[in-house]
Amino acid sequence: MHPNAKNIFVTGAGSGVGKHLSLHAARQGLFVLAADLKLATAAETAQEIERAGGKALPLEIDVASEASVQAAFARVPDGRVDILINNAGLQIVSAVEEFPAEKWKLLTDVLLVGPFLCTKAALPGMKARNFGRIVNLGSIHSLIASPFKSAYVAAKHGLLGFSKTIALETGAHDITINTICPSYIKTPLVEAQIAAQAKTNGISEAEVVDKIMLQPMPKKAFIGLDEITATVDFLASPGARNITAQAIAIDGGWTAR
Ligand SMILES: NC(=O)c1ccc[n+]([C@@H]2O[C@H](COP(=O)([O-])OP(=O)(O)OC[C@H]3O[C@@H](n4cnc5c(N)ncnc54)[C@H](O)[C@@H]3O)[C@@H](O)[C@H]2O)c1
Repeated sequence: MHPNAKNIFVTGAGSGVGKHLSLHAARQGLFVLAADLKLATAAETAQEIERAGGKALPLEIDVASEASVQAAFARVPDGRVDILINNAGLQIVSAVEEFPAEKWKLLTDVLLVGPFLCTKAALPGMKARNFGRIVNLGSIHSLIASPFKSAYVAAKHGLLGFSKTIALETGAHDITINTICPSYIKTPLVEAQIAAQAKTNGISEAEVVDKIMLQPMPKKAFIGLDEITATVDFLASPGARNITAQAIAIDGGWTAR
C-alpha cells in the first residue's frame, strides 16, 4: 500500500472479497470504512478488525442509491478516502428471454451505477489532497461473456469504459483507477452461482465447477483471495502510479484462448 494512504473505503465489506480486503488493509495499518448493504455484516468485519488490533468504522450503504452513498461518505472522518474499492456486487443468472427487467436493472445499478456514485463521492477529496487510488472489482466477465449472464457481463464491461473516462478526468492528479478482472473466486457469491447454474443448465453442481467454471482456465483452479489483495497492494503502491485505466486479468490463462 502507499505511504500517503490512511483511509480505505470498501463497498461490500461484509462478505467475500470485500471482507478479506478489509481485514488485509487493516493489517497494513489503514483505517477501514467497511460499507455494506447489510450493516450487520459490515459490523462483523469491523469487529474482527478491531479484535485484531486494527481500526474500522462499519457503514450502511446501498451503492445503487445516491442518497445512501452520500450519507455513508458523510460519516467518513474528515471526509478522507485515499483508497476506494468498488467491490459490492451480486449475480443473477438467467436466459435473456426470462430475465426479469427489474433484476437486470438491479444488477447494472449495483455493479455500474454504484461505482459511479462512490467515485463521484470520493473524487473531490482525492483531487483536493492530490492523491487517490480507485480499484474496481471487475471480472473476467469485463473481458469475455458467458451465456445467461447478460446483465452482469454488460455491467462489468461498462465498468472498464467508465474507468477509462475517469482516468482521463484525473490525469492532472496523483489519482489512478484500475479494474481487477478475476475468474472464479470461491466466495458466497460463487457458491450461490454453482447452485443456480446447475439448475439453469440442468446439470450437477460438480459438473458446473468442472465443465463451466474451471473448464476455460488452463490452470483449472479457483482464484485465491490472497491474489486479489496482492493485486490491490500493487495497484495502490507508488510503483503503480502511472498504471491507470487498466484491466488486470487474474484468470488462470482463460483469455489466452
Ligand atoms: N467471487 C467471484 O468469483 C468473483 C469473480 C469476479 C468478480 N467478482 C466480483 O467481486 C465482487 C465481490 O464479490 P464476492 O464474490 O465477494 O461476493 P459476496 O456475495 O461474497 O459479497 C458481496 C457483498 O456486496 C454486498 N452488496 C450487494 N449489493 C449491495 C449494494 N447495493 N450496496 C452495498 N453492498 C452491496 C453484499 O451484501 C455482500 O456483502 C463483486 O463485484 C463481484 O462481481 C467476484
